[in-house]
This record gives sequence, C-alpha cells and structure tokens, in this order.
Amino acid sequence: MGRHIHVIGIGAGDPDYVTAQAIEALNDTQVFFAMDKGEAKSDLVALRREICARFIREPGYRFVELADPKRSTGPDYREAVADWHAARARLWAAAIAAELGPDGVGAFLAWGDPSLYDSTLRILAAVAAEVEFTFDVIPGITAVQALTARHRIPLNGVGEPVLITTGRRLREHGLAGSAVVMLDGDCSFQVCPPGTRIWWGAYLGTADELLVAGTVGEVGTRIAALRAKARARHGWIMDTYLLRPAD
Ligand SMILES: C[S@@+](CC[C@H](N)C(=O)[O-])C[C@H]1O[C@@H](n2cnc3c(N)ncnc32)[C@H](O)[C@@H]1O
Repeated sequence: MGRHIHVIGIGAGDPDYVTAQAIEALNDTQVFFAMDKGEAKSDLVALRREICARFIREPGYRFVELADPKRSTGPDYREAVADWHAARARLWAAAIAAELGPDGVGAFLAWGDPSLYDSTLRILAAVAAEVEFTFDVIPGITAVQALTARHRIPLNGVGEPVLITTGRRLREHGLAGSAVVMLDGDCSFQVCPPGTRIWWGAYLGTADELLVAGTVGEVGTRIAALRAKARARHGWIMDTYLLRPAD
C-alpha cells in the first residue's frame, strides 16, 4: 500500500460546493496538512476546519499546520516563486515522512480546484523526489464556476474561447475577447474601454458575497470603492471577474 495523499478541491467558498467524491476522500484521511498563511487568511483556515467538521463522519483526523516559508521579494518573480516552492517542498517532505505512517493517508485541501492558480500539485511533484507516496486529485468548484453561476451567465460566447488570466497580465496585454481575471489586487479592469462588460464577484459562495455587473464605465468606480471598503473591513479579499469587449 504505502503512503497516500489526496489533493482535495473543496470549492471556492460555499461548503455546499464540496462534492460527494471529496467527502469520501475527507473521510479516508488521517492527517490534513495545512499551510499557515497568517492572521489575514484565518477566515479561510476556519472554513477548511468547518468543512472537515461538517463532512467527516468519524472524526479521528488531525491537522498539521505547516508554517509558510517567507517568499523573497527579489526582482525576478519566477525565480522568487521557484525558491519559495523548493522551500515548501522540503518542508512538506519532512512533514509527510514524520506525520504519516508507512500506510498512512494524508490530504491537502485546495481552495476551489487544485488545477487552477494553485501550487499544491507542482510542489507535490517536487516532494515526490524526496519521499515515497502515491496521490490522487479530487476536482472542485472553482471561483470561475461560482462567479458564472451566481451571475447566471454562460462563461463563453457561442463557439468562442475564454482566457483565464491575472490582473497583471490584463494590464500588460489589454483585453482581446472574453477573459476571466483572477489574482488582481488593483482593479485592473480599469485599463479596459468604458463599454467593456464586467461581471464581478467577491467572497463568492460565502455570507459576505458581493456581486456587481454592468459596463466598466457604469460600474467600475463603484466596484473599486466597494472592493476597498470590503478589504479594509475583512483584512483580505478574493475577487474574480469576467470581461467581454463591447459588441
Ligand atoms: C490562488 S487563486 C486560487 C483559485 C482556486 N484554486 C479556484 O479554483 O478558484 C486565488 C484567486 O481565486 C479567486 N477566488 C478564489 N475564491 C474566490 C471567491 N470565493 N470569490 C471570488 N474570487 C475567488 C480570486 O481571484 C483569488 O485571487
């Protein structure tokens, strides 16, 4: 048998997004490895614990918190991220070896789906060079799906592609066709022409959810103000939006 790790997508905010397959994997897990990202994201840690408390039938599991190594702020972004992933991989390898018995089952809970802007799978690939284990991946509801469901809209135009990108890349490259923007701390939609349509969502799937739709000209300033206020109130914010160029 040997050690096994489930990488479980838990959905992007609403505990009801947890799938039947994820519930089975949660119940199969003895040790949950969690990255401690500090106070600001403590609401998110609480949600993970709430999911475990709600769905695990016989609670014999443990949480092992892994301190997140410091990310260097050097000029080369890719190099800084690579160093950070390597430091995490060493930490995870040591924790898996120390905390899981030879046939133990552990899990990493990934926000949304593990394939989308999440480093868990990349880091685990590096961990595999240091400790022996098998792993599987349980898909989850992403922020993209939560956004389109809550706005009740299709993701793509008929037969059209959709780009999933970051705020930084939107600022650098502009908008060409439909795009979902994630990881944007700067309301980068403001670089788009005023006729651009936007469907914006923050804290999707949670009790604090915020939704705004319109054109960038009509609602851009309102979103920026709402976002700043909510971020100040909670200490953190996660928002995602879909953009479509004017017809
Ligand atoms: C590190 S990525 C993780 C994405 C995640 N793996 C997923 O499948 O949605 C974090 C970004 O996802 C988006 N996001 C995640 N959860 C969200 C939520 N509940 N509401 C709005 N945006 C969210 C935000 O753009 C945030 O900056």
